[in-house]
Amino acid sequence: MSFNSINSSARELLAGGRLSGKVRVPGDKSISHRALLFGSIAEGVTTIQGLLPAEDPLSTAACLRSMGVSISPIKKGHSVEVNGVGLDGLQEPAEILDCGNSGTTMRLLLGLIVGRKGHHFVLSGDDSLRRRPMKRVGNPLKLMGAKVHGRSNGNLAPLSVLGQKLHGAVIGTPIASAQVKSAILLAALTAEGPTTVIEPAHSRDHSERMLKAFGANLQVGGEMGRHISITPGAILKGQPVVVPGDISSAAFWLVAGACVPGSEITIENVGLNPTRTGIIEIMQQMEASFEILNQREVAGEPVGDIRVIHKGQLKPFQLNEEIIPRLVDEVPILSVAACFCEGISKIKGASELRVKETDRLAVMARQLTSMGAKIEEHSDGLTIHGVGKLRGTELDSETDHRVAMSLAIAALLAEGDSKLANSDAASVSYPDFWKDLERLHD
Ligand code: S3P
Repeated sequence: MSFNSINSSARELLAGGRLSGKVRVPGDKSISHRALLFGSIAEGVTTIQGLLPAEDPLSTAACLRSMGVSISPIKKGHSVEVNGVGLDGLQEPAEILDCGNSGTTMRLLLGLIVGRKGHHFVLSGDDSLRRRPMKRVGNPLKLMGAKVHGRSNGNLAPLSVLGQKLHGAVIGTPIASAQVKSAILLAALTAEGPTTVIEPAHSRDHSERMLKAFGANLQVGGEMGRHISITPGAILKGQPVVVPGDISSAAFWLVAGACVPGSEITIENVGLNPTRTGIIEIMQQMEASFEILNQREVAGEPVGDIRVIHKGQLKPFQLNEEIIPRLVDEVPILSVAACFCEGISKIKGASELRVKETDRLAVMARQLTSMGAKIEEHSDGLTIHGVGKLRGTELDSETDHRVAMSLAIAALLAEGDSKLANSDAASVSYPDFWKDLERLHD
């Protein structure tokens, strides 16, 4: 079976068949960015095993290199060495920091650079990134004394930053965003006095875990770990980092395994950090057949293998604001799953999806509707009727990696083949997705 590339970015998608076998998804994107960033401002060498060799982390690495950090080439199967320059060692870049398609790169870099007194920085990115809101990071950083300017009253890139001596602050963030939290924590490392971030809900905690491992003076408190404090002064020390497989990439195989008749897939080495496992809770709601095997802890992160088997009808699910931070990137593929659940599934409290690489609620509703799905779109979510079948058609990822991969699974479940425009988008987080799909498909 082959999922032929028609030209550089369009691809034929075959309907039918089943998926079986083992797959090892690439390294976690969030952890990969953080390993590069924290390694850069640590003293000594950080060796990263399993770093995601995809476009987004490459953008982060390129920006760090242009601030004087030496990072070995990022290639699949090779560990990466970061020669840290220490907390005060970053140089003023002689060029624009190009963050590509990566919101995590731009937002975390903002936190990293705003406290570099006297240095000037310009950050930009692709068309999608230049439309994404940056004030959510700029505003809290301004409370620490940062100077960030941009289009649309500081909200849109290109952004310019003039580094300032920052002061610590107590900052309540209006949205549960790990990108915002991490930017504040990065800025706090070199500010004067302690900083506390208070989140409305607990977002992914990879920064907290890794900063502690690097030696930062970081405390987590409050209800559900929503208060995170940094007291500056500690020196970060380069560490060995092992990056687990990305549960957000595993999500495509989890849903495919549960929905595609005859499938049986084992996804190995998946990160199971509890701030990321919302999809597991939804799989339980759907009464999908899966088991988690070989649970272990690797370099401070819980990891396991997941075996999923298609066993027949799935129950519809409901998800709301409370769980969104734990599965924010999995909503596109869950909206595909909902089309194959017996009944009506509801996704609520998901307005954050509208400011991702694309407006993912609108794009998924548009693309799946073109396949015959029955979806009502709301300002903060989707109501999806489990029609039980889709038809193959002309699809478009609209340049969004998670949409591309979600539509690939939808097309497999459809009657009749599809064509997917902009399928290359997958390489932002999962460069071998099409190869893995072809290998698992029979
Ligand atoms: C990320 C956090 C999430 C997620 C993104 C990666 C991170 O964004 O959607 O893909 O690495 O911190 P928000 O923090 O904006 O929710």
